[in-house]
Amino acid sequence: MEEEPFRTIIEPFRIHSVEPLRMTTRAERREHLGAAAYNLFQLRAEHVLIDLLTDSGTGAMSRDQWAAIQHGDESYAGSPSFYVFVDAVRELFPFEHVIPVHQGRAAEKILFTALGGPGRIVPNNTHFDTTRANVEATGARAVDLVIAEGRDPLSEHPFKGNMDLEALDALLAEHAASVPCVMVTITNNSGGGQPVSLANLQGVREVCDRYDTPLFLDACRFAENAWFIHEREEGQGERDVADIVRDMAALADGMTMSAKKDPMGNIGGWLAMRDDDLAQACRTQLILTEGFPTYGGLAGRDLEALAQGLREVVQHDYLRYRIRSTAYLGEALQRIGVPVLRPIGGHAVYLDARGLAPHLDPLEYPGQSVAVALYEAGGIRSCEIGTVMFGRQPDGSEAPSSMDLVRLAIPRRTYTQSHIDYVIEVCARVAADAASLPGYRITAEPPSLRHFTAAFEPLR
Ligand code: F0G
Repeated sequence: MEEEPFRTIIEPFRIHSVEPLRMTTRAERREHLGAAAYNLFQLRAEHVLIDLLTDSGTGAMSRDQWAAIQHGDESYAGSPSFYVFVDAVRELFPFEHVIPVHQGRAAEKILFTALGGPGRIVPNNTHFDTTRANVEATGARAVDLVIAEGRDPLSEHPFKGNMDLEALDALLAEHAASVPCVMVTITNNSGGGQPVSLANLQGVREVCDRYDTPLFLDACRFAENAWFIHEREEGQGERDVADIVRDMAALADGMTMSAKKDPMGNIGGWLAMRDDDLAQACRTQLILTEGFPTYGGLAGRDLEALAQGLREVVQHDYLRYRIRSTAYLGEALQRIGVPVLRPIGGHAVYLDARGLAPHLDPLEYPGQSVAVALYEAGGIRSCEIGTVMFGRQPDGSEAPSSMDLVRLAIPRRTYTQSHIDYVIEVCARVAADAASLPGYRITAEPPSLRHFTAAFEPLR
C-alpha cells in the first residue's frame, strides 16, 4: 500500500543567494505615501518591505538560469543565443515565426500596429491594461467577452477566464470583417488570474474558424493556466503539462508573450505566429522600435535565461508549489474573513475591496484605499485593479469598473511561507479597521494608463 503523502507542499528549492529586506516604521511610511501622492507605483522600492505590486520580472532566477547567462552571445545578427531561445519557445509553442521583443507590451504594440486601426474591433476574454491601451492607441475598440461567472467575485466556476462563446459568435456574426484577430488571455489577469479551459479554447477556435478569424493567445501565464487544466479539467490529470501547453498552442495562430512572467525572466517577451505576411510586417516594425529580429531589444544573455526558464516552468513540482502557495495566502485570508476573489488565482490573490470597504463608493476608489492602507500598516505594496485602472472611458468620462480589486501578486520563487504569514497578519489588521478607511480623489492624471502616475488625495 502507498504511504499517505505529506500535506506540506514545500518550496522546491533552497536559497543560494539572498537580498536584504528593508524595514521602515509606520511614521516613515506615512511620509513616503505623501511624497508619492498616495500612488504606490511612485514609491521607491527600498521603502517597501514585501513587494507584491507585480509578479512581472520580479521572480528569482535559478542557478541554471544564471549559468545560462554566461553562455550569452552578444552578436548583433544571428547570435547562437537566439537559436537556443527559439528552440526552447518552439518546444512548447511550435509557431513558424518567433520574434523576440523586450517585453509583452512591445509585442502588443507591434501586433496591433499591423492589425489594428480605426473601425477595427479586438475581442478578448479580458484585456490587460497595456493590451487595451495598445489596441485603443490604433483607434480600434477593445471588447471584453469573459463569461458572466468571470465578473462575479464569488462564483466558484473552475475556469472563470473562459470566453463567452455565444457573445463572441454574435460579435463576429455582425462584425467579422472588422475583427482582425480574437485574443484569449491565459490566465485572465485582469479577471483575477483565472484560467481558461482547453475545451473553451477549442470552442473559441471553432467560432474563429467559422468566420475565418485568427486566434492569438496573450500567454504570459501559460504554465499556470496549463496546471489548472491539469488539476481541474476532465481527462487532463494524467497528462504532462508541457503537452497541455502544446495543445493550447496548436489551437492558436499566434501569441504575444511577456517573458517576465512564466518564462521566469527579469525582462523579455516575444511575438509568434504562423502567417508569413504578418510576420514580415511585424519584423519591419520590430526593426524600427526594438532591434534586429535575432535579438529584438534583448541581450543575448537574456535570451539564454529565458530558454532555461521555459524548461523550468513546466516542471510539475514547481507548478504544484506555485499554485498551492498562492492558494495558501488566499485561503488564510478567507478564513479570517477578508473577502477575496474566488477561486484563488494562479499568480495572485485578489482582495475584493468593495466587499471590504462597502462604505466607499466605487468612484472614491476603494481598491486604492485598501492598497494604501496595506502599505501604511505593514510596508506591503499591492496593486489596485479596479476603477483607478479601468474607470477612465475613451470619451473622457469616468465609470465604476466591474470590480474593485486589490491584487497581491506573488513574485516567482521569491518569498517564503513566513513572509506570506506576515502578509496575512497585516491584511487581518487592515481588515479589522476597514470601516475607517478613507476614500480618495485623483488630483492629477495623464490621458491614458493613469494608474501608473496619477496623484491622489484622501477624502478626509
Ligand atoms: N498581458 C498580460 C496578461 C499581462 O499581465 C501583462 C503584464 C502584459 C500583457 C504586458 O506585459 O509588462 O511585459 O509589457 N502584466 C504585469 C502585471 C505588468 O503586473 O500584471 P509587459
